[in-house]
Amino acid sequence: MAEVILGIETSCDETAAAVVAAGREVRSSVVSSQVDRHARFGGVVPEVASRAHVELIVPVVAESMVAAGAEGSDLDGVAATAGPGLIGSLLVGVSAAKALALVWDIPFVAVNHLEAHLYAALLEDPELEMPLVVLLVSGGHTLLVVMEDHGRYRLLGSTLDDAAGEAFDKVSRYLGLGYPGGPAIDELAALGDRTAYRYPRPLVQENPSTMADDRRFAFSFSGLKTAVVNHVRSDPDALTADVAASFQEAAVEVLATKLRWALESTGAPGACLGGGVAANSRLRERFGEVCDGAGVQGFLPSREMCTDNAAMVAAAGYWRLRHDGPSPLNSGADPNLGLGFLV
Ligand code: KG4
Ligand code: ZN
Repeated sequence: MAEVILGIETSCDETAAAVVAAGREVRSSVVSSQVDRHARFGGVVPEVASRAHVELIVPVVAESMVAAGAEGSDLDGVAATAGPGLIGSLLVGVSAAKALALVWDIPFVAVNHLEAHLYAALLEDPELEMPLVVLLVSGGHTLLVVMEDHGRYRLLGSTLDDAAGEAFDKVSRYLGLGYPGGPAIDELAALGDRTAYRYPRPLVQENPSTMADDRRFAFSFSGLKTAVVNHVRSDPDALTADVAASFQEAAVEVLATKLRWALESTGAPGACLGGGVAANSRLRERFGEVCDGAGVQGFLPSREMCTDNAAMVAAAGYWRLRHDGPSPLNSGADPNLGLGFLV
């Protein structure tokens, strides 16, 4: 049985490699962020990202192997993120993983990046009880998923337009706070008044039972972003810290409300957060309140585990390998890889 897996993650602007045993014991996890290379462009530039992955992939993988004290002969498989993500970036990780699988004569397993994110919390707390409601909020995705068992997930809802992190990044850019926007807004919001302006809370109504199923757990952040932009245009004297705090409050209230509804509707005994936006201070605070209010176990993974890393890829790869066996070496990367792993 495959036990020790090398995971590789290159779907966006982090080059990462990790060695994980039995899908839960992290022996090493190396993440090289490219954020400095992209900051001056105000966002991730795909060609810059692919070139950086090409430069970094060998040293990052080597460092993860050395840190774990592992050699190729100690590994039972190589997992790589095959999508969704930037195609040039994905190809670097997938090609490296296949080459290593061939050289070491061990299975290759393609991993869906979103399935990997679902494993992040379990890596830090393997005792988490399932079913587990996972609120996955990143720069590319906003999903509410019930993790019923390994490999068995139910999608409750996702965003109809912008992802939560995307809204933070766009509002930050408009306010001149820079990239990445989430941490900038979070920091400034601490100095502002979150009740200063009442921005819309899209798709959140008083009584969720009056909402159609496909809207109750759906998200929409594009209108909120536009409301903030329109307000600042019409009121240029508004304090930026108050705008940041009020925007953050609206976005977090939507996320927290849908999480509460999901816990009420599923009766799940636990919940966790995942994705880069899970680092948000106000969301972390509200998450605790929602879990306490619902009487469920809430788990907040560390920031390192919430953002892109390869330990979560190795963990998801371990379970995929046990479930479905190796992926064929002619399987490619897919920038639009969907939610087919969800039921
Ligand atoms: O999961 P992630 O590292 O990358 C992917 O998108 O897959 O998430 C990055 C996103 C960015 O949109 C960033 O602005 C947001 O997470 N983010 C935050 C915070 N830290 C990162 N958003 C709100 N508050 C934060 N403290
Ligand atoms: Zn991610």
